[in-house]
Amino acid sequence: MNPSVLSIENLSVDYLVEPVVHAVRNVSFELRRGEVLGLAGESGCGKSTLAYGIVRLLKPPAMITSGRAVFHSRDGLEIDWNELHAEELRANRWEKISMVFQGAMNSLNPVISIRDQFEDVFATHRPKMSRKQRRDRCAELLERVGVDPGRLSSYPHELSGGMRQRVMIAMAMALEPPVMIMDEPTTALDVVVQREILREITRLRDELGFAVIFITHDLPLLLEISDRIAVMRGGEIVELGDAAELYTNPRHEYTKQLLASFPSLTGDRGSFVRGAMDDRLLALDAVEVEAPS
Ligand SMILES: Nc1ncnc2c1ncn2[C@@H]1O[C@H](COP(=O)(O)OP(=O)(O)O)[C@@H](O)[C@H]1O
Ligand SMILES: [Mg+2]
Repeated sequence: MNPSVLSIENLSVDYLVEPVVHAVRNVSFELRRGEVLGLAGESGCGKSTLAYGIVRLLKPPAMITSGRAVFHSRDGLEIDWNELHAEELRANRWEKISMVFQGAMNSLNPVISIRDQFEDVFATHRPKMSRKQRRDRCAELLERVGVDPGRLSSYPHELSGGMRQRVMIAMAMALEPPVMIMDEPTTALDVVVQREILREITRLRDELGFAVIFITHDLPLLLEISDRIAVMRGGEIVELGDAAELYTNPRHEYTKQLLASFPSLTGDRGSFVRGAMDDRLLALDAVEVEAPS
């Protein structure tokens, strides 16, 4: 079992509205180095609030009422995110934990070329990199997520939604953070593009060994890509376990209900095979995903 890279300890978040919404209630879990941890649960159960709470990106009326997130670096150092100042938080966000949120593709600056947006990240975080190193790295990153590096001089509006989302994922990987949090990163996309991006993420995880918290209400998809799955309901994690185990032997009544609500999952429980996605994805290779231009 890999050691923890991130510990979430008793995290609670309220929305201070009338009446108060207890969106995240006393959530604790460990993210292990290199694992894909799926976070499942119906819309409104608190997944996004938890994600934003971990990285301290919540805005009023949201308030963290208890708990903390502790990052464990390889050299044994602990970083308590609650104790970081705004400046340190910013520095650590892309370095230690990066995020891709739903609709992240719309957060690219429309008047700056893709290349310059990458360059900004490197100029800020890797000031010693030479111009040539930065250029090479940009191209390499784009290639990794399946975008032609020739697109570097493009502006965001010249790319499709799927391409822009891939660019955001490449950016989240730019500094090779040990943890990536992805909140419905592909939900807005066409299902074929979605699968292709997921394949890239899992492949890169295998290659680079970062840990991923992957959030979606799409439980079948989570079962395919996750090592472990946490099931959330009403602001709490009701069950957390090995993905295959959770599928074949759900403990909590709510997990059973959730599984039952996806018709595609209610077949023969014994036939679940991890990595089944790979075969299905291979079949998609022949599909033209983006119109060439
Ligand atoms: N800005 C807000 N003000 C008040 N309540 C909110 C706000 N944002 C989210 N909530 C509530 O917090 C709960 C959790 O929401 P959210 O974290 O977005 O869930 P999920 O991501 O699982 O769909 C929901 O009941 C939602 O209505
Ligand atoms: Mg959400």
